[in-house]
Amino acid sequence: MSSAHTPDSPSTQTAAQTASHPLDLAQRISALSESATIAMANRSRELQAQGKDIINLSLGEPDFGTPDHIGAAAKRAIDQGWTHYTPVPGYADVREAIARKFQRENGLPYEAGDIVLSTGAKQSIANAIACLVNPGDEVILPAPFWVSYEAMVQLAGGVPVIIPTGIEHGYKITPEQLQAALTPRSRVLLFSSPCNPSGSVYTEAELEGLAAVVRTHPSLFCISDEIYERINFSGAHASLATLEGMFERTATVNGLSKGYAMTGWRLGYLAGPPALVKACTKYQGQFTSGTCSIAQKAVIAALEGDQGPTESMKAAFLRRRDAVGKGLGTVRGWKTNIPQGAFYHFPDVSAWFGRRAGERVLQNADDVAMYLLEEAGVALVSGTAFGSPNCIRLSYAASDADLEKAVERIRRAGENLDWPAA
Ligand SMILES: Cc1ncc(COP(=O)(O)O)c(C=O)c1O
Repeated sequence: MSSAHTPDSPSTQTAAQTASHPLDLAQRISALSESATIAMANRSRELQAQGKDIINLSLGEPDFGTPDHIGAAAKRAIDQGWTHYTPVPGYADVREAIARKFQRENGLPYEAGDIVLSTGAKQSIANAIACLVNPGDEVILPAPFWVSYEAMVQLAGGVPVIIPTGIEHGYKITPEQLQAALTPRSRVLLFSSPCNPSGSVYTEAELEGLAAVVRTHPSLFCISDEIYERINFSGAHASLATLEGMFERTATVNGLSKGYAMTGWRLGYLAGPPALVKACTKYQGQFTSGTCSIAQKAVIAALEGDQGPTESMKAAFLRRRDAVGKGLGTVRGWKTNIPQGAFYHFPDVSAWFGRRAGERVLQNADDVAMYLLEEAGVALVSGTAFGSPNCIRLSYAASDADLEKAVERIRRAGENLDWPAA
């Protein structure tokens, strides 16, 4: 009698058979690199588990708790039974609150129907790229860029076109650089301001310079990642979509993770032209559906409730930015600047390349990061993953005491290199 299972079906396969037939994964996953920030955090956890004293400054999340009134709104949502599947683009009242935020704070006339809520700004950006980029299309990424942009473009079959910048230009691209990067295949310009990892903030005039170039290239669309909007020390946040001719060709992405210390809640949103919003809704509907009901119901409390905790957090970040900046200025060979937003310093550490520490030769920023982790007990992230191989990212979303200790360890590690005699 024939069995319902073939000999190699999962129910009859032995462990030995599985081992002799390694699983063939799809090319798209084999070609994908692991997130460098997560890899660094894993390595530092490993060392910590071995009993090493590691100060972890590699992570991109506020070290503050979510404000109480936001947590209370989520608890109310559970009590009121908001625990079912949600509409794919999000609840109407939540999208209305986001539309009010855009109008009130950004001068952007989005309506509720122009908004899709997602499981973090990460998913909002991934949705937009999947819906806009055909294989072979070019996506312009000013470097340094957030690590996941490049992977998302590659997953869509797109070609990342990286525009390098350096600390001497505040890590910002010029209109001339953008113009020079454009080709008939250019499809999307994607960047964050305030920027992770550089902390740079484009002024409205600088954005206008870029917009003037974008307007000359009819098939170019922009994704403006404004997730760090609330952590901006420059006094003004400019949204690309407010500029002439840009509203119709920009997706504005934002979320709750950074400004409200809600990284674990997974709440992001995209606003843009109707065709893109419809496409992202269709795409997300086949992947994850609407984002968490309970988290969504807390959005209104976050955006329209007490902004005091967010302001206090920003004040703490500003104080730490300055304290850490002062300390990093004393690290031998490092070039530093004063970032205008987010919670990172992004020094140029290339003066350490070619230097020795004992048997170890520091060839690049990856080596510098590993040296500081293993010898100084400070976890940072190499700039290579952000497209800036001369730099290293230090997150100051950590306690003042840890930051002070970490900076001193870095300074000492610098002194221990084999500097030539003066
Ligand atoms: C520049 C940038 N964009 C988007 C995200 C994603 O944020 P979310 O937690 O909302 O997915 C991050 C998170 O690190 C980020 O740094």
